[in-house]
Amino acid sequence: MNQVNTDAVIEVHRVAFGTEEGDDIAQLAKDFLVLSDTISISAERDGKTVGNVLFTPFVFSNHPETKCYLLAPCGVLPRYQGHGIGKEIMETGIEHLKSVGADAVFVLGVPTFYPRYGFVPTDKQTPYPDLMTAPEAWMALELTEGSVEKLSGKTVAIPPFTQPHWWDTSQHG
Ligand SMILES: CC(C)(COP(=O)(O)OP(=O)(O)OC[C@H]1O[C@@H](n2cnc3c(N)ncnc32)[C@H](O)[C@@H]1OP(=O)(O)O)[C@@H](O)C(=O)NCCC(=O)NCCS
Repeated sequence: MNQVNTDAVIEVHRVAFGTEEGDDIAQLAKDFLVLSDTISISAERDGKTVGNVLFTPFVFSNHPETKCYLLAPCGVLPRYQGHGIGKEIMETGIEHLKSVGADAVFVLGVPTFYPRYGFVPTDKQTPYPDLMTAPEAWMALELTEGSVEKLSGKTVAIPPFTQPHWWDTSQHG
């Protein structure tokens, strides 16, 4: 991804997540985008980037051979929302993950959005299980049959995502 695209993706997340969260999520996206293992899926409209979703590696310490990803962030510019762009990047992202042999993808997010794409609540650990006060927000999508059930134990996200505040769901409704 070239610098122009990187800047555009960061800007999509800054604007999509609004004044309260936008700057923090934009910084997270920026940190993710410099890592070679990050998978970035964008949608273009009117010659510009209007939606993006990022996937970063997620490891279960007891099962390092199982190839898992975390989905975050997923955002669409407000004036382009409600026109199928979120759906497009989610479906393209999931197909891409399958094509690279991913076994499962996890997300901490809106429990009304992600189940549309097959995500179901999961009891697998986040990196900070004690902060998980909204269990319905932690979801998994199995891409390789039978891969999720056997997962157990501690999980590790990539460094920019290991800050406890990203995993604290006490502020979620
Ligand atoms: C969530 C978001 C990515 C959806 O993008 P979008 O382009 O508006 O989504 P689409 O138009 O493709 O809608 C896809 C489906 O999701 C639904 N949907 C859209 N936003 C939703 C939301 N916030 N909660 C629940 N469902 C939502 C739509 O109604 C649609 O359903 P349908 O297929 O039954 O008609 C976008 O609203 C966004 O960027 N929001 C701000 C950032 C955010 O909250 N990201 C997710 C954080 S976990």
